[in-house]
Amino acid sequence: MPVASASTPAVGVEVAGTVVALGKGVTELNIGDEVFGFINIVGGYATKAVAQVSKLAFKPKSLSALQAGAVPATALTAWQALIEHAGVQRRQKVLIHAAAGGVGSMAVQIAKYLGAEVYATASAHHHAYLKKIGADYTIDYTTQAFEELASGLDVVLDLVGGETQTRSFAVLKKHGVLVSPVSAPNMSLANDYGVTPVNFATRSDGRQLSLIAELFDKGHLTVNVETYPLSEAKVAIEKSMGRHLRGRLVLDTAK
Ligand SMILES: NC(=O)c1ccc[n+]([C@@H]2O[C@H](COP(=O)([O-])OP(=O)(O)OC[C@H]3O[C@@H](n4cnc5c(N)ncnc54)[C@H](OP(=O)(O)O)[C@@H]3O)[C@@H](O)[C@H]2O)c1
Repeated sequence: MPVASASTPAVGVEVAGTVVALGKGVTELNIGDEVFGFINIVGGYATKAVAQVSKLAFKPKSLSALQAGAVPATALTAWQALIEHAGVQRRQKVLIHAAAGGVGSMAVQIAKYLGAEVYATASAHHHAYLKKIGADYTIDYTTQAFEELASGLDVVLDLVGGETQTRSFAVLKKHGVLVSPVSAPNMSLANDYGVTPVNFATRSDGRQLSLIAELFDKGHLTVNVETYPLSEAKVAIEKSMGRHLRGRLVLDTAK
């Protein structure tokens, strides 16, 4: 598998590439199939990786392997947050923090696909990109207080944590959902505001990834990637840790 994303801190957990060998009893795939997946083991920074078949799906036909390698963990995180944990419905108001990043950019598009009204926080230079992928309202978190621009929301997807998460209670309506893969929301504040708090860890799910692949091929999702050769993994990880990406960094393990 020649591609892996440069995410942190779990490096090399998502891959895209071609099946070169099958384990005993595997009938779901054939040698030569193009697949992608969130493989949950730190094996992606290599020209070959081992994965359980249940964690893989056929790569979207509309994406190159390099683009597809940027998708599994971020898209599954956004999917599970919005669909499984928050149950986003048509016309609901959803705020996504860190909307221009890997998970955020997937979340904006999935929320839009679900028919939600999408509020997105990011610094101003990302706003045109966010509008292009589906944000209805953009908020510059460096100069604007999101509490002054959004209220009565059904869902906040917190991809920042800390003070941003704490301030998010106030913009939710009663029985709204504050969902975060970053840290557990404060229970006592959740009770005070009558908000449902959710903290979760993303899980591998080849079936969900197949549905995500379909959304790419139908034109509902796109991914923004910046590519580095594997030899520059350190530079890519350092850049990723700076937390100011648009979309995702990927490593081309063929280079
Ligand atoms: N628990 C799990 O299973 C799980 C799974 C996936 C992700 N996560 C966590 O989810 C978070 C998001 O992951 P990611 O890969 O999407 O991150 P990322 O791509 O590194 O996020 C980068 C984005 O964050 C934005 N940002 C930084 N500080 C912000 C703030 N205070 N307000 C609004 N936007 C801000 C940046 O926008 P600017 O450039 O405008 O600053 C940038 O576009 C991370 O903390 C990650 O560890 C957890």
